[in-house]
Amino acid sequence: MNKLQSSCEAFKLSAMKYYDFIVIGSGISGLNFALNASEKGKVLIITKKHILESNTNYAQGGIAAVLDKLDNFKKHIDDTLEAGAYHNNKQAVRYMVTHGPKLINKLAQLGVPFAEKDQKLMLTKEGGHSAKRIAFVGDRTGNAIEKTLVKAVHEHSKITIWENSFAVDLLVKNKKCYGLYVLKNNKIEKVFASAVILATGGLGQVYKKTTNPNISTGDGFAMAARAGCKVKDLEFVQFHPTALDLPRRKSFLISEALRGEGAVLRNNNGERFMSKYDKRKELAPRDIVARAIFQESKKGTVCLDITHENSKITQERFPTIHKKLKKIGIDITKQCIPVSPAAHYACGGIQVNLKGETNIKNLYAFGEVACTGVHGANRLGSNSLLEAVVFSDQILEKLKISKSKKIPSFPPYLLNKKSSGKFSYVKQRIKKIMWNYVGIIRTEKGLSEALKTLMKLKKSFHPTSKNIKEFETQNLLEIAILITKAAIKRKKSLGCHFIDS
Ligand code: FAD
Ligand code: SIN
Repeated sequence: MNKLQSSCEAFKLSAMKYYDFIVIGSGISGLNFALNASEKGKVLIITKKHILESNTNYAQGGIAAVLDKLDNFKKHIDDTLEAGAYHNNKQAVRYMVTHGPKLINKLAQLGVPFAEKDQKLMLTKEGGHSAKRIAFVGDRTGNAIEKTLVKAVHEHSKITIWENSFAVDLLVKNKKCYGLYVLKNNKIEKVFASAVILATGGLGQVYKKTTNPNISTGDGFAMAARAGCKVKDLEFVQFHPTALDLPRRKSFLISEALRGEGAVLRNNNGERFMSKYDKRKELAPRDIVARAIFQESKKGTVCLDITHENSKITQERFPTIHKKLKKIGIDITKQCIPVSPAAHYACGGIQVNLKGETNIKNLYAFGEVACTGVHGANRLGSNSLLEAVVFSDQILEKLKISKSKKIPSFPPYLLNKKSSGKFSYVKQRIKKIMWNYVGIIRTEKGLSEALKTLMKLKKSFHPTSKNIKEFETQNLLEIAILITKAAIKRKKSLGCHFIDS
């Protein structure tokens, strides 16, 4: 390239919005990646609501890693594989587990106030863990991590943050990603980067009952699939066994850590029932507990009981849950909590390797939207924050930023002008179909009926205005179809995919 060409290139780049890295999402994986990447170049974080709003912010139980002398890597690896029904990518599991302690240390150094006793981390247990290995901050671990990372990115001069900005679609040509269309201030504009990072979190809102906040509409999965990304293991949607279940109340997670600290499950007759289903009782892996509750709740309300534990300790250990339930008239130290399973976590996602690379050049994915294969067919509790922080941390050394860019031309984003179904109606239909037919217990007939109805909905729905809710509904519909197709392909039960034949 001669001098004139190169100054023209430079002019073109400065005339357009161009960053070294664009990170979509401001949860643990996006923020952690942005912090590292800012050492190498200019970073833009795009996030659809307030920067704190993410699944990360609501994580309760904690983050797992080998931190105790009675524990070891082999045990953590074995527990992860067992929970994942041995469908896991063993290399990825080993990578995550062995890098875990270093990353917990990094978070603590950044300022996450993990609970300590005698200057040592306090650790708790959750279902499927054979040792105490979960570091926590009361019952608001995610909020403490999120606030700490947000403070750190705010302090960084090379990081720009666009809140209330919605990533609509990726700019991809010939299997190479150049940037994305973003809906910001009611305009859809193009932004370009050397590397685009999808850190858009989960898809729980595709189900009627979910622990996930409203932002979890599967945008990253759908965007990537539209761009030609490979997706994997989408049939493995994890249902958390214990979400608050009251008529006309939004689901709210009741952390597995309560069971870790002694809470028991009771059926409508007040009987403890878990021993009928698994010898590990309340601390069996999540898919087993979720299905047991689902079965028992056919006979009436199932509830979680921690009233036999010391009331002062319960209040101190679970202040958020205690306060939240007290407000709606349930004192957890005296009353049983009505619970039901709810969609919680996507074990599958965009297929990536250990570096977070997708099959599209310059496009990376980390955290819940990505499928490293770590979780296999079912995730072990508290391994998700760990996966997100470990894999978003290690890419940097490998990234080469080439400053000189030839960016092909992309047309302005065009909305469909044809009339369309109403998004609110379509959204409610998707949620019901997914809960009833592609939920905790599936049948071949139910799955194929679900797919037919979802495909019909897709024919009659598309976004017609710059309303985020319309784009989200389109994404929910596309991801619902992908989950259902994946579930149809898997003929036998495995992990959290359960087929009643
Ligand atoms: P998220 O934290 O979900 O962040 C995604 C970000 O992407 C958000 O900022 C969102 O606004 C943004 N975004 C999404 N789409 C777009 C778009 N189109 N345009 C722009 N921005 C977009 N895991 C554990 O390991 N331990 C726990 O104790 C635990 N507890 C949990 C409790 C609850 C209630 C829930 C819901 C989950 C819990 N999990 C837990 C799971 C864990 O919190 C998540 O898997 C993890 O936080 C995901 O992090 P992430 O960075 O991938 O995504
Ligand atoms: C919980 O606190 O029960 C959630 C833990 C997790 O999803 O890993």
